[in-house]
Amino acid sequence: MAPDDLVIGTAAAGGGHHLDAGYPDPFTHDKKYRKLLAAEFSSVSPENQMKWDFIHPERGVYNFAAADAIVDFAEANGQVVRGHTLLWHSQLPAWVHAIEDPAELRAVLKDHIETVVGRYAGRIQQWDVANEIFADEWDKGGLRLRDGSAEHAVNPFIEKLGPGIIADAFRWAHAADPQAKLFLNDYAVEDWNRKSTAYYDLAKQLLAQKVPLHGFAFQAHLDLQYPFPSTLRANMQRFDDLGLETAITELDVRFTLPANGVPTDAQLAQQAATYQGVLEACLAVEDCNSFTIWGFNDKYSWVPGFFSSQGAATVMWEDYERKPAYHALHETLAAAQD
Ligand code: XIL
Repeated sequence: MAPDDLVIGTAAAGGGHHLDAGYPDPFTHDKKYRKLLAAEFSSVSPENQMKWDFIHPERGVYNFAAADAIVDFAEANGQVVRGHTLLWHSQLPAWVHAIEDPAELRAVLKDHIETVVGRYAGRIQQWDVANEIFADEWDKGGLRLRDGSAEHAVNPFIEKLGPGIIADAFRWAHAADPQAKLFLNDYAVEDWNRKSTAYYDLAKQLLAQKVPLHGFAFQAHLDLQYPFPSTLRANMQRFDDLGLETAITELDVRFTLPANGVPTDAQLAQQAATYQGVLEACLAVEDCNSFTIWGFNDKYSWVPGFFSSQGAATVMWEDYERKPAYHALHETLAAAQD
């Protein structure tokens, strides 16, 4: 249903919270899941399988099997892949945190980027090079790079190597795969707000320095207890006006479940309207070329394990029955074709 210049993606479930979930690896073992993944989507994002702790768990030890399988699957099904992610403070193994010597840490990051990006060169449409590099206004110390200057979750690369490492990460990734479009990616940046403006300023700086930055991405982990990000479209447009691509990379819409665990019709309708609103913003911005939801059925969603009492955040129930949100996306794409 999607226009030719827009891919519709999902996270490919595996690794991370799935490892403790008591079911077999979804991507490799759930046939129905694989069938829908192949049939419904034109882009695939490894949910955890390219993250540092998964793909590079020990120094010198790379575990490419799961990421290889996803890239092969995507190719076999005519899908593109979003690489996720290279410079991130989270899901980073202890051995990396333990490196104190800046020259050594820099060499380790460069080798990691060259190895991982190089392995899939020519087969990845977009890479989230830098993920969540800003702390939030509500963190101690407030909005600033995760440089360890306050009590936020620290990005050890920025802390030990300085903010210039962001530009270097993009340069190394570009050298390893000149075809991949390279992105900044974060949450809580959907609205035109202080955090998205910090990224806007950073993006302008990087572009002025001729750093190979090609896009800005909005994770869009939304929660119905907060208002819809009504400035999303205008905010996306300002990045588009810089000459950058934009993308929605991790959309899900969570809410607090009623005591009986069953979402109300009103909640499902509001969830559908939220999915639709984000898709409409992307459709309205010229170079929003990639729209990805963070998993497509509730069984495998990360939400219940990370946000207490919340859930039902995806477009399909646990048994893959479609929710109103699924139909809203479908109808919005159909309408966009007229
Ligand atoms: C989540 C995964 O969905 C989980 O399986 C994992 O346990 C934790 O990470 N922002 C991101 C994603 O960029 O990589 C995160 O994914 C969700 C928040």
